[in-house]
Amino acid sequence: MEKLIIEGGRPLYGEVKISGAKNAALPLMAATLLSPGRHILRNMPDLRDTRTFIRLLANLGVKSERTGNVLVLDTTDILHTEAPYELVKTMRASVLVLGPLLARFGKAKVSLPGGCAIGARPINFHIMGLERLGVTCKLEGGYVDAAIEGPMRGDVIYFDIPSVTGTENLLMASVLAEGTTVLKNAAKEPEIGNLVDMLNGMGANIEGRDTDRLTVHGVSSLSPADCAIIPDRIETGTYLIALAATGGAGTVTNCNPAHLPSLLEKLRDVGLRISETESTISLDWPKREDKQQRLGNVDIKTMPYPGYPTDLQAQFMALMSLSSDTCVINETIFENRFMHVAELHRMGARIKVDGHFAVVTGRGMSGLSGAQVMATDLRASSSLVIAGLAASGRTEISRIYHLERGYENLVDKLTGLGARVWKEQE
Ligand code: EPZ
Repeated sequence: MEKLIIEGGRPLYGEVKISGAKNAALPLMAATLLSPGRHILRNMPDLRDTRTFIRLLANLGVKSERTGNVLVLDTTDILHTEAPYELVKTMRASVLVLGPLLARFGKAKVSLPGGCAIGARPINFHIMGLERLGVTCKLEGGYVDAAIEGPMRGDVIYFDIPSVTGTENLLMASVLAEGTTVLKNAAKEPEIGNLVDMLNGMGANIEGRDTDRLTVHGVSSLSPADCAIIPDRIETGTYLIALAATGGAGTVTNCNPAHLPSLLEKLRDVGLRISETESTISLDWPKREDKQQRLGNVDIKTMPYPGYPTDLQAQFMALMSLSSDTCVINETIFENRFMHVAELHRMGARIKVDGHFAVVTGRGMSGLSGAQVMATDLRASSSLVIAGLAASGRTEISRIYHLERGYENLVDKLTGLGARVWKEQE
């Protein structure tokens, strides 16, 4: 296995280009199963998770060819409708093939994804919604064995919690159903808007984009997609926080500032100067001449979009470890998303966790020192990278396969900002 080495304590400066969003690419790849033909997905990031999804689709019979960041998926010849445990266990988003396979073939057998470091990650809302549409779901042997005779019948589905992949799965399941389906208390993340645009571009009839009420008027068939994946708002936020944590300044390009309303306000709250154009965000300090920048502090409460994203909670905690005061971070989405705290402790961070709350007592911009730490999940590992870039001395991060799931060309992008970072064999 490889580890990441960072010689920290150097301000980052310059420009970094954002890739396509992992959490949009995965549902859009699943949606190609809805109709036979050659589908074109543009701005496709090359990540461990997208490569895993291509393998999952290939197992079903889908042919793929990638040219640069354009991926063509030919879903004409589907061999079977089963997603095996070996593939699903490495990436929970595999459950997203359930809806489209049922919509097109009336059957699907998909391994239950199982939990992960951040929580139990149940899929009961996915199952509830499919059953409302007339599907019979049998849970046995660690699999969901789902089937329906004939087309699904539209119905009203209410989400107790606005589940992102739950909304995506049921959108894809209902586009070919008879009648109308209404998803209430649906998730409103930008990735769902990207999926709605793709499906409507294929001939679906979905109203309510960007709201918590999606109305799907079933159609009889769909045609292949030609769709662009939106920029990755979590990657965008991660690089902005890294620039701030190192006392540097710079511009993130090929991004969409409108997808980060909460983070940009929080960065302003802690004293940074943020300016936006349609596709760039620039971060700077009010008084550049100050040698030792001072970071204010602000409380964070993670919420469904447009609230503060849970996927940027760990990164902001690393930043607040460098502030000059105390703040409270409240993680409301997942039950175990403070795995990064123990590792940040090893770098000198002062954080006290009590259930869903973490109290962070900042130690100033030079408060962290390099250490050997271990990545536990995708976003926790990016918070360790941020801490390592800000810390004095050398940080070694093991198990970096977690990072490679969601950050394209991380070493190149950080090096381009002036970071001293490289990979070594463990
Ligand atoms: C998506 O996961 C993202 N993954 C996650 O990003 C993200 O953290 C999460 O949404 C929240 O924004 C992808 O899009 C591939 P949820 P998802 O269903 O859909 C509970 C990353 O780092 N719930 O919105 O699995 C669940 O336990 C990943 O890129 C049920 O109880 O999240 C959680 O507490 C991590 N039953 C809450 O709802 C269900 O059937 C929100 O989960 C489904 C969810």
